[in-house]
Amino acid sequence: MGSRNTDEPPLLQVIDLHLKREGRSILQGVNLTIDRQQVHAVLGLNGSGKSTLAYTLMGCTGYIPHRGRILFEERDITGLSISERGRLGITLAWQEPARFEGLSVARYLSLGMKEPDLERIRAALAAVALDESYMDRVVDGSLSGGERKRLELAAVYAMRPKLAILDEPDSGIDILSLGDIAALIQRMVEEGASVLLISHREEFVTIADVASLICEGQIVRTGDPGKVSRHYAHCCRPCDHHEIVETGKEYDERL
Ligand SMILES: Nc1ncnc2c1ncn2[C@@H]1O[C@H](COP(=O)(O)OP(=O)(O)OP(=O)(O)O)[C@@H](O)[C@H]1O
Ligand SMILES: [Mg+2]
Repeated sequence: MGSRNTDEPPLLQVIDLHLKREGRSILQGVNLTIDRQQVHAVLGLNGSGKSTLAYTLMGCTGYIPHRGRILFEERDITGLSISERGRLGITLAWQEPARFEGLSVARYLSLGMKEPDLERIRAALAAVALDESYMDRVVDGSLSGGERKRLELAAVYAMRPKLAILDEPDSGIDILSLGDIAALIQRMVEEGASVLLISHREEFVTIADVASLICEGQIVRTGDPGKVSRHYAHCCRPCDHHEIVETGKEYDERL
């Protein structure tokens, strides 16, 4: 997957992003860069601001930053709506998929496609290891949590996004199926997408080109995915005040 080509401007640039929710500061100066055809993993403890960052990048209602900028293909998109960002090629696979109950799976997968394409829908299902019999199933409680999660990823793949934001794509997915999800991400990248991969799992982070650690709404470290995830595993812990502290001492940077 893509290593940094410094001649090319990044696909996404997040500059000093600050966001409040109900008067509380959640994002407190996020800086992040994603290059074309790059997988950038974001790690962080529960409540560190990962989903909030995903919603803010997607432009969800109520997630308007009060400071900072989001540049996509060098254009300032900070003020654009979710649908405008969708049209530019940004899409989000939600941590908790729960939208559009009652549609057929085929219709659900076609929602974000510029032109509905049955072949692409079939390919998207196959890419998440669901067979064709799922096409006519209804998106509702009859699908298992893992199947819903797979559909969410299939919908993102079907759209051919430029930037796919995947919020915990591995949650609810068993360890044996992680390889399917990793293969899907690789396929998206081969087709030209960049991926912001929000995940807790170290196995998953190994497919990233670069990783960042988010702590209390700030990116505190960015670099080699192995090093960042080891730092995360060794040095992050919630303290008594629910704050994140770095113990640091036992951690050997050469690990
Ligand atoms: N509407 C809101 N009002 C107040 N606080 C909020 C609101 N939405 C989120 N938060 C807080 O913002 C913090 C970050 O939440 P967020 O969902 O982004 O965390 P996360 O890193 O995705 O966590 P997880 O790993 O559990 O998914 C949390 O402490 C959460 O309680
Ligand atoms: Mg979250």
